[in-house]
Amino acid sequence: MMSSSLQHPLKFAERMSHIGSVGSFDFAARARTIEAAGHDVVHFEIGEPDFPTPENIVDVAVKAMRDGATSYTASAGTAEARRAAAKYVSPRAGFDIEPESVVFVPGSKNVLYFTLLALTEPGDEVIIPDPGYPTYRALVEFLGCRAVPLALRAENDYQPDPAELASLITDKTSLVVLNVPANPTGGALHRETAEGLATVLAERQLPVYADEINCRIMFESPHVSLLEMPGMRDLAIVSDGLSKAWSMCGWRLGFGVMPPALAERIGKIMVQTSACTATFTLAAAVEAFSSPASDRAVETMVGEFRRRRDVIVQRLNAIEGITCHAPAGAFYVFPDITATGWREKELANALLDQAHVAVLPGTGFGEQGTGHIRLSFATSEAKIVEGVDRIERFLVENKR
Ligand SMILES: Cc1ncc(COP(=O)(O)O)c(C=O)c1O
Repeated sequence: MMSSSLQHPLKFAERMSHIGSVGSFDFAARARTIEAAGHDVVHFEIGEPDFPTPENIVDVAVKAMRDGATSYTASAGTAEARRAAAKYVSPRAGFDIEPESVVFVPGSKNVLYFTLLALTEPGDEVIIPDPGYPTYRALVEFLGCRAVPLALRAENDYQPDPAELASLITDKTSLVVLNVPANPTGGALHRETAEGLATVLAERQLPVYADEINCRIMFESPHVSLLEMPGMRDLAIVSDGLSKAWSMCGWRLGFGVMPPALAERIGKIMVQTSACTATFTLAAAVEAFSSPASDRAVETMVGEFRRRRDVIVQRLNAIEGITCHAPAGAFYVFPDITATGWREKELANALLDQAHVAVLPGTGFGEQGTGHIRLSFATSEAKIVEGVDRIERFLVENKR
């Protein structure tokens, strides 16, 4: 008799109970089931730009494959790609980054995973933003560390408070994770906040992981990187990638900029795990970082995201019981739905099942997400209007 998937002789490691699943992937799967039953679903759950990868980047990758870039390459990336990434990030840092500081990995999530592997011991504490990208907590706990939430609040424009950060640091703290601009709030760092955070971190000589994957998607003010703050050159690990700025999520290409001693160790992890990223994608990265056509594609996408942000924020705020803070960057909104009388999970489930609108409950991003839902506006303006109309109708017809 075939054994069911629940009956097996495998004894899983304790850490497997901490890995969790990804809420957006779960909701997307449920949404696909509803679509397969013949319903039209509006997708606000997916954190992936809905634009094609710019053609010039695709052309370079195809040519690279045809020209033979199909074998293994150096574990941290080709010298050309590391040089191009260093040059690309240098203006953000305000100093010349050395190519030896750059490591390419298959998706920027791995910059965090490998950094945690390199810098933490089980039992260590890692400070993470709350609300924050759920992968932070998942990976921290997967490696046996304790995730310590640093609260971000709308009334404070989602600024991490340096004094609050200082109060959370103990002798077990081995890393602080920040995300600018942030998923799920769209909050970005004010310069004074960045200076305050850098002062605390430099004083404690505490490394900081700055996830800047969305830093090209800023709507008004320019991105402020921790890397340019005094004392951060030897402590900041900046992670970035191709997924968002150039709409290349499926290419699985991320990179980190970090002190060379850490880059060398992460290079070692890469060689023993992935060997290297796909070689032809590194040629595409050089094109993304350095060509004017790629810059124009980013500008066009950001312009479109800005228009959609204005529409979604205005329409959500017009719904009774919903308050939506305008994001400074990225492509998410995180409205407060407390005054509707609905709890976030209940509402997300009901919206999907009854109104066929996929949103995510805020609690998937941490305790501070209580009373919130997350919507990604990586969908057309027409879909945004349709989806928000459905949410409004649902709330009018289902008053609490
Ligand atoms: C804040 C944040 N960091 C990292 C990632 C993952 O990026 P990558 O595709 O480079 O692994 C995401 C994806 O949604 C994200 O929102």
